[in-house]
Amino acid sequence: MAGASGGALAAEVTAAGAFGFLAAGYLDPESLQKELALARGIFDLAASDRLPVGVGYLAWKLEKSMDAEAEQMLAVALDNHVQAIWLAFGVRIDKWIRYIRTYDENHRRTDPTLIFVQVSSVEDAVVAVKNWKVDVLIAQGNESGGHGYRAAPPILTLVPSILHALPDGAPPLLAAGGMSDGRHVASLLTLGADGVVLGTRFLATTESLYTEAQKRALVAAKSGSTVRTMAFDRARGTLEWPAGIDGRALYNSTVKDMEEGVDIHVVKEKFKKGVQDGDPDRMLVWAGSGVDLISRVSSAKDVVQELHDVAVERSKVSRKFYTGN
Ligand SMILES: Cc1cc2nc3c(=O)[nH]c(=O)nc-3n(C[C@H](O)[C@H](O)[C@H](O)COP(=O)(O)O)c2cc1C
Repeated sequence: MAGASGGALAAEVTAAGAFGFLAAGYLDPESLQKELALARGIFDLAASDRLPVGVGYLAWKLEKSMDAEAEQMLAVALDNHVQAIWLAFGVRIDKWIRYIRTYDENHRRTDPTLIFVQVSSVEDAVVAVKNWKVDVLIAQGNESGGHGYRAAPPILTLVPSILHALPDGAPPLLAAGGMSDGRHVASLLTLGADGVVLGTRFLATTESLYTEAQKRALVAAKSGSTVRTMAFDRARGTLEWPAGIDGRALYNSTVKDMEEGVDIHVVKEKFKKGVQDGDPDRMLVWAGSGVDLISRVSSAKDVVQELHDVAVERSKVSRKFYTGN
């Protein structure tokens, strides 16, 4: 999660038994290296040891850079021997996959970097599996916090549609979007996903890079508090996303003013001040539709444990329903 998951969050999620990704997002190579070093320190690993976290890249950011700069960003993760690289939101994802695979071949890696690609349509899923031969596919539903495809179907529709279209022997499919607790996890596994991805729930952790004000806003959010919008990208000037993308965030006066056509300069000024002051009515808080079920800020470890326990409990209930045992 760009701007939210650093080395501490990723490492603590993995240490708790899930698998954590830190975001390369808007970072430069030096800052990315710092976050990776932080993660490595938490595991107490030597520099040559494989790092059991992943790094997520915004493919469009790589595509806006010169090739050498983009490759340098990817090489930071690869030199750190991370276990996985996540790619999304670009038009040349195949190019970055080729770079990663060539790097692994040139370094004679016996345990190649796993490539995760996030998609929001059946068509993109088929390309990722058949043409790019990704190792793990993520289906991102419309409920998701942060950026995504405006036309993405709800996760309940997207997961079965993708499973139906994929050939036998397709890689694992993870479901993403709108999940906050173990009941959501159990339902997506029942639907046929091999695993799940949670973003927003981990924003409200002690390790996330979100500010205290943003975390408080997440805890206070109600059902129906989120909206898909480009208002915040307009307010902060991040408009280089590929066509068809917007982001789900908490609705506030920044969005309202944009909708009502208030002068963009005025909205930008108020937004800037709102971010400085931690004003929930102006600042940006990306959030998925399941945000209302987040009732407190916890450690990443506690979140993973609780998700696991409740998911196992709910799975037992559904098994009982079907078998009568
Ligand atoms: C703050 C934030 C930042 C995100 N940044 C990225 C990103 O850099 N790359 C990406 O592929 N997805 C990103 N996402 C989307 C997640 O990968 C995932 O699809 C989403 O969080 C799942 O929905 P949920 O937030 O409701 O759990 C981000 C989500 C959030 C909330």
